[in-house]
Amino acid sequence: MGEAADSDPYASILKRISTSDVPLLKEYGLSGVAVALLLAVAIPVLLSSLFGKKMKKRAVVADVGGDAGLTMRNSRFSDLVQVPWEGATTMAALFEMASKKYSRHKCLGTRKLINREFIESSDGRKFEKLHLGEYEWDTYAEAFYRACNFASGLIKMGHRLDSHAAIFSDTRAEWIIAAQGCFRQNLTVVTIYASLGEDALVHSLNETQVSTLICDSKQLKKLPAISSKLQSLRHIVYIEDEPVEAETLNQMKHWTTLSFTEVEEMGKTSHVEARLPSSSDTAVIMYTSGSTGLPKGVMIAHGNMVATTAAVMTIIPKLGIGDVYLAYLPLAHVFELAAETVMLASGSAIGYGSALTMTDTSNKIKKGTQGDVSVLKPTLMISVPAILDRIRDAVFKKVGEKGGLTKKLFDFAYNRNLAAIEGSWFGSWAPERMIWDNIIFKPIRAILGGRVRFVLCGGAPLSSDTQRFMNICLGVPVGQGYGLTETCAGAAFSEWDDTSVGRVGPPLPCCYVKLVSWEEGGYTTSDSPMPRGEVVVGGYSITQGYFNNEAKTNEVYKVDKRGIRWFYTGDIGQFHSDGCLEIIDRKKDIVKLQHGEYVSLGKVESALTTSSYVDNIMVYADPFHNYCVALVVPAHQALEKWAQSSGINYKDLEELCQNDQAIKEVQQSLSKAAKAARLEKFEVPAKILLLREPWTPESGLVTAALKLKREQIKTKFKDDLNKLYH
Ligand SMILES: *[C@@H]1O[C@H](CO)[C@@H](O)[C@H](O)[C@H]1NC(C)=O
Ligand SMILES: *[C@@H]1O[C@H](CO)[C@@H](O)[C@H](O)[C@H]1NC(C)=O
Repeated sequence: MGEAADSDPYASILKRISTSDVPLLKEYGLSGVAVALLLAVAIPVLLSSLFGKKMKKRAVVADVGGDAGLTMRNSRFSDLVQVPWEGATTMAALFEMASKKYSRHKCLGTRKLINREFIESSDGRKFEKLHLGEYEWDTYAEAFYRACNFASGLIKMGHRLDSHAAIFSDTRAEWIIAAQGCFRQNLTVVTIYASLGEDALVHSLNETQVSTLICDSKQLKKLPAISSKLQSLRHIVYIEDEPVEAETLNQMKHWTTLSFTEVEEMGKTSHVEARLPSSSDTAVIMYTSGSTGLPKGVMIAHGNMVATTAAVMTIIPKLGIGDVYLAYLPLAHVFELAAETVMLASGSAIGYGSALTMTDTSNKIKKGTQGDVSVLKPTLMISVPAILDRIRDAVFKKVGEKGGLTKKLFDFAYNRNLAAIEGSWFGSWAPERMIWDNIIFKPIRAILGGRVRFVLCGGAPLSSDTQRFMNICLGVPVGQGYGLTETCAGAAFSEWDDTSVGRVGPPLPCCYVKLVSWEEGGYTTSDSPMPRGEVVVGGYSITQGYFNNEAKTNEVYKVDKRGIRWFYTGDIGQFHSDGCLEIIDRKKDIVKLQHGEYVSLGKVESALTTSSYVDNIMVYADPFHNYCVALVVPAHQALEKWAQSSGINYKDLEELCQNDQAIKEVQQSLSKAAKAARLEKFEVPAKILLLREPWTPESGLVTAALKLKREQIKTKFKDDLNKLYH
């Protein structure tokens, strides 16, 4: 809603994160250079070939029967973990027990609003600027008390126990309090990404027959316009994160409408006995984008979420009451919900922030005042690759601008640490890394508050460059995760001491990961050097299926003879010799041509991207033909340079993209790239179209992590694709 419908929940966040505030690097004096040179010469001599790295076995073969395939489990646990500790079998029990255990510790923190003002830019547009103060904290005991009150208040308000409640709000403390309140009454919470758009919202609320909607003030304003479509709705609870105008409330007459505080107050004065759920009850119906059409509601049981929580708690070293977590990704996404549940289970403090207020120079932060990270100084964060990419680019840009000695020293130190991490022949000599850390990299760390010690990254593959940047410049290990809503976030997670790149680690201890041969696609578990196949995940974290969609559920979820539930992800993976998983392809991105050959679109695209003329490319294969075609966004500079040197006359880029010679030139370059990658003839696009407009997340054609959105691109260029085949 508001923004263009976008199935990528992170796209809009990404647009808002400002990283123009890279802390300035100090100018380093001659002493730094001297130390650098000394170390550069001395250490290799001292330490040559002392260390050889042994590969640690992180997953082992598990014998669990079921469909044929190669099944692995985490090597640290011989049995799958199911609960974080005895008795914590539901989200409600987990929170209640945690609030007793950590009662006086900080639990949920929200920044105090000191002042809100609007400033006008030169072109007359108005911008909201916030002056936010310190964090104000609810202790665990207080947060639990609020959740109990909210639960009572909700029932007093008239919410019927046999109907669902939905939460439609940005990430904030009330989100967790409301959800935990619902869990205490065994109510299922429906969640919807704000970025899915209005139709998706209407569809989700209607499909699940939601009777109470809990929303923030921003979403509240949108309701009157769609009220006629929200037929099952009876009650609205709005969070007063911004002043709500009487006029808005007047338009809510056909619903019982109360503020969040009113509901809490009501619960305080009239307590309603809890009706606690069991582990197999549905905690959340989480709507996620379907690749086509309407969103699907994934039913997540209490038992699924506590299993993931238990598993992730074993991944983060020394997790506990000393940790401070910055919460800013959407809670309607399973990744964030799982992460916050992990924090709650471990007694950590959760400080809420937002992409708009994260750093000192974020859009909504009043000049001269502090962003969320500067005030909170988190120790743990989760992120998606695109956000980390942006931070990396900002730092490198700043260093480049400084130039001179700063850049030389930075590059030198960076390369030394890179070599150390990658385990080159002089091993990693801690004192040297410490020196570089202190003089070069420490100032940069202020960009995330200076105390971050572990970053969990998920949602899409993280590039090796960015992972190394995080290791070196921010000095933090990055745990890469792989999982889907259907597997309740975690399926595989790289461990903190694993510094390799491009892999997603061993299975989490709550589930098995199995590879199943896909003969037609050419991926089998007997492939060498690594077994390959479709990634199938089984165990306690596998969710219950899609709400109201048994056909689709039965298609991708299977239960084996031993009662283990499996989810068929459609992703293609391979197991490394230490048991870590790497995702290499996507089943639905593989098309069978008319004559029976298979084209793996992703594989072909990554081969063709090596052509210097390609900025972006989507290969398309129509199963009714025996060749494929491609849409190419050319690299403008390279193409124009070629055009000038070949004496081509053209008015503008648009015209150049239609020039036959230009098309031919790009196509030849693609053929060369294909040959270098040993592609088969049928894999090389027989016809191409050059497109002038770049594909950006804003255009909706690629995700925030710049992954192609095939369906959207196919729809937009439907006619062009048809023409390429005629
Ligand atoms: C709500 O769902 C019912 C079926 O349960 C359907 O007939 C109706 O058209 C839906 N309404 C909207 C507004 O989607
Ligand atoms: C929780 O609610 C569901 C759905 O109404 C019901 O089937 C289940 O038995 C309830 N759980 C408990 C422990 O009462």
